[in-house]
Parts: sequence; structure tokens; C-alpha cells
Amino acid sequence: MNAVIQQAVPQNPLIEGLERLPVPPTTLVIFGATGDLARRKLLPALYNLAHEGGLPEIFHLVGVSRREKPHEHYREECEQAIRRFSRRKPDEAVLSGLLQDVRYVPGVFDDEAVYAQLAKVLSELERIAGQPLSRLFYLSTAPSFFPTIVEALGRQGLTALTTQTGADGARPNRAAAPSHAREREEATCRVVIEKPFGSSLSEAISLNERVLSVFDESAVFRIDHYLGKETVQNLMALRFANGMFEPLWNRNYIDSVQITAAEDIGIEGRAGYYDRAGALRDLIQNHMLQLLCHIAMEPPASFTADEVRNEKVKVLRAIHAPKPSEVEQMARRAQYAAGHLGGDGVIGYLEEEGVREGSATETFAALRLEVDNWRWAGVPFYLRAGKRLARKVTEIAVTLKPVPHVAFSEEGAREIKPNQLVLTVQPNEGVSLQLGAKVPGPRMTIRPVNMEFLYGTSFLSQSPEAYERLIVDAMRGDATLFTRNDEVEAQWRICDPIITAWEQAGGPLPSYPAGSEGPAEANEILLKGDEWRAI
Ligand code: BG6
Repeated sequence: MNAVIQQAVPQNPLIEGLERLPVPPTTLVIFGATGDLARRKLLPALYNLAHEGGLPEIFHLVGVSRREKPHEHYREECEQAIRRFSRRKPDEAVLSGLLQDVRYVPGVFDDEAVYAQLAKVLSELERIAGQPLSRLFYLSTAPSFFPTIVEALGRQGLTALTTQTGADGARPNRAAAPSHAREREEATCRVVIEKPFGSSLSEAISLNERVLSVFDESAVFRIDHYLGKETVQNLMALRFANGMFEPLWNRNYIDSVQITAAEDIGIEGRAGYYDRAGALRDLIQNHMLQLLCHIAMEPPASFTADEVRNEKVKVLRAIHAPKPSEVEQMARRAQYAAGHLGGDGVIGYLEEEGVREGSATETFAALRLEVDNWRWAGVPFYLRAGKRLARKVTEIAVTLKPVPHVAFSEEGAREIKPNQLVLTVQPNEGVSLQLGAKVPGPRMTIRPVNMEFLYGTSFLSQSPEAYERLIVDAMRGDATLFTRNDEVEAQWRICDPIITAWEQAGGPLPSYPAGSEGPAEANEILLKGDEWRAI
């Protein structure tokens, strides 16, 4: 993808920084190494990176998790996970090369002994390598452990090299760091933090404070896996590598923007997490607001972490955070009831295992937001996310204003619709532009047709998984596709009042049958003339 963009516009300063940073020799430490995310996403991503030569020549993997087990058992578990979840059938030589040296450190995350043991393993790997190795700590645990782990890493000196060099050349924290930390000179230490980053604005602020007391912001990589998706990066390419959209990309020509993240799956055994999160925290606060930012941001001066994130933060800050009394006008929530999907009957949310009795957690949320700046004032941004809807689709539909005057006969013009640009993030990744065209024949009859670009047919190659791109970016220190501290807080600032209003209102919630298009109540936040696209 990047190569293609670079061929097309070799001088574009926006993308020239993309491949700039090398991937240094690294040890990746996964906390929560036996969890679902590690098995389904991280390990397969590492395998596919190894397959494509995307990992550095010296690369080690260390798993940290609760259960006691020898290295060999963990290695076998990694192998099974890769065989089961990799997007390509593993090549035996690549697989054994990747896993031959895997290490495992057992223990609970609030036990200091785990970190001392980890320090030994890391030093040993560096001794074998004969050089310092960069360390990437990947926190794929329950969120409550994020601060515990980060602070313990700091106390044990495992992160000592992340702090900036002071004016006198001294690195803060070094004196306090154990000797194993002081031995390492040039390598870097970075931390990747999974979502959710807090469950409210105040939690996010406090988590940021605790993380930043140990790591410099430049070493913190807050994951939003949507940013690693090819199609999300393509939003940038579409907007900033093509001249034709920019003149139209504003309130003068755009009528509304609609962002949908519909899923057919339910909560997949994740009640423990989901029942306390809900659709707003799970998808809207992070993934969907990021999609909105990609549509609404100003062109950054260059495609670097700070420039891109500065522009996104400006968008988030321009979004009006509702007052409690305004929530009713701009937000709706609902919960799925029993229904049918793919011909099978499925249970309702309240019947799912682990969901609290009478839970008022929303499995569907719809919002109408406004970006109060010169480019977007008055343009509604509709966001909608839900579980157990008719099908899985993530898309952004940009609807242009209708033509000012229709010169055709009423009969022929009946089907004229405003142009719509639909960016499909998944599945059937691509872009389609809906135009009015004349139906062949003697009459001037207009009907909508689609001009389409599909990834599958244009590039004839399988897109990498989001985590592949993100792991490499974190290893080489490129934070462009990660969320900055002020960005995550700005996202919570928008969602917090809605969450509070809903918590105060309690339940029961409106419902929608599983397998449907969502609740009729979602229509109540649409402005006159607007409608939700079919799912
Ligand atoms: C995760 C949410 O962040 O994103 C899940 O926690 C959701 O509930 C998932 O299913 C959707 O991701 P994707 O890549 O399948 O759209």
C-alpha cells in the first residue's frame, strides 16, 4: 500500500517519512501472553511479520502471564495459536525460527519478583545477542493492571532508558535503577497499551499521569487497532494524495457524514468486560471517533506522529461535548433482544452468560455530533455502532448536498439522489462513488450508479492485519498510528457526559431484535431529511 502511494506521488511530503525508521534489534515482552488477544492477534501478526521479513534480524519474544509453565509449554501454545489464527498457513522453517528462543515468565503482575525474573531473562537474551536490545513491553492484560505493570517496570529499572537525557547528560532515574538497567546504552524501551485506556475521562487522566511518570510520551504507544487497518490509512491517501476531494470537503458541499460500525457477532463470552463497557466505550470512544477524525482533520504538514495527531486533536476539541440536558437530542442507545441471524435463533443480551441481571448496558449506540469549526460547522456527523446487527460492515458515507436545481422532467428526475462517497472499511474494502446517470433509452431518466474501487481487485494481494503494521511501528518508534495522551482524553471528554446521562437514566433500554438493522429510536436523532443507510 505505502509503496503504491509512493510510486504515485513520489514528492508528497505527507508520506515521505513513512518508511524512514529502521526496526532495531528488539525483545518483545507480552504481558497477558496467554490471553485471547495474544493468541488470536498478536502471535499470528508476529508470524506473518516473520514470514514477510518484517521483524528485525535479532528478535526475541518473552511471554508473561499468571500460570506456572515451562518455556516449552508456552512455545507449544504459541505454535498452536499461530497455526489456528494466522491469515496464512505457516511455513515450518519460519515458524520454528520465530519460536525457537521464546521465553516465558510466570507470575501475577503485582508481584515484584516477576519483574526481577523478567530483568534476568532480558539481560540473558542481550548477553547472548552480544548487544543491548530494544525492549517493547506490550500490555495485553485486563486494564486494571496497566498502571501496576508500568510502575513496576519503572521501579525495577526495566524502563530506565526511556527518559530523556538531561542538560548535564545524566538520565533521570538512572541512579535509582538497578545495575542491569545501567548496563544498556543505546537501545530504547517502549510500552504498548491496549484499549480501553480508562473507562472515563478521569480514569484516562489518572492512567496517563501514572504511565507518564515512568515513560516519556514518545515511548508510549496507545493502541487503537482501527488505525492499523489498511482501509483507515487509505482515508488519508484518498484525501491527501488526490486533488479532487479537497475543494468539496467542507460544509459548502457536504451535507452529512455517517459512520457505521455494525457487527453481527454478540459479546462472544466477554460479558465480564462488555457489560461494564457497552457500545459507546467499546467502539465509539475510540475506533469511531478516530474514523471521524480522519474525515474531518485538516491536511497535516507532514505524515509524522506529531503533525497527524495535532490535527486529530484539533478536530476532537472542536466537537461539542453535550451538556446533560442535550444528550437526549443527540444520542440513543439500545440492547439486542432474541432474534435470528443467518437462519439461526440467537438469544438476547440479557440472557448472555455473565451479563448482570437487568443490565442497562447498551449494545447499540447512535450519536449526532458536530465539529464546530469553519470547515464543518452545521454538518451533522452521525455515528452508529452495535452488536448483533444484520451483518458486519464498517463504512463511512459522505453525502453531498443535492444539486441546486433539477432541470429534468419530474418523472425522469424522480430517482436523482445526492452524490454519496462510501468508504468501506470492512468487509469488501474499497471506495464507491454514487453518481446520477442516464438510463439508456429514448427518455431522459436518471438513476444512481456506482463507480467502484475494490482493494481485492485493484491490488490482488491480501491486506496485512492491523496488528502487523502496529507492532512494527511500535518497535521502530513511529507513533503516527497510535493515540496520544491529549487525544485519548479529548475522546473521553466527548463521551463522558453521554455515559453519565445514560447511567443516571438507568434502564430498561429500548431493544432491537438480533439480526435487525437496529432500533427505530436511532431515527430520532437524525436531522430532517436524513436517513440511516441500510446495514
Ligand atoms: C474491539 C472491540 O476493539 O473491536 C470489540 O472491543 C469489537 O467488541 C472489535 O468486536 C471490532 O474490531 P474489528 O476489527 O473486527 O472491526
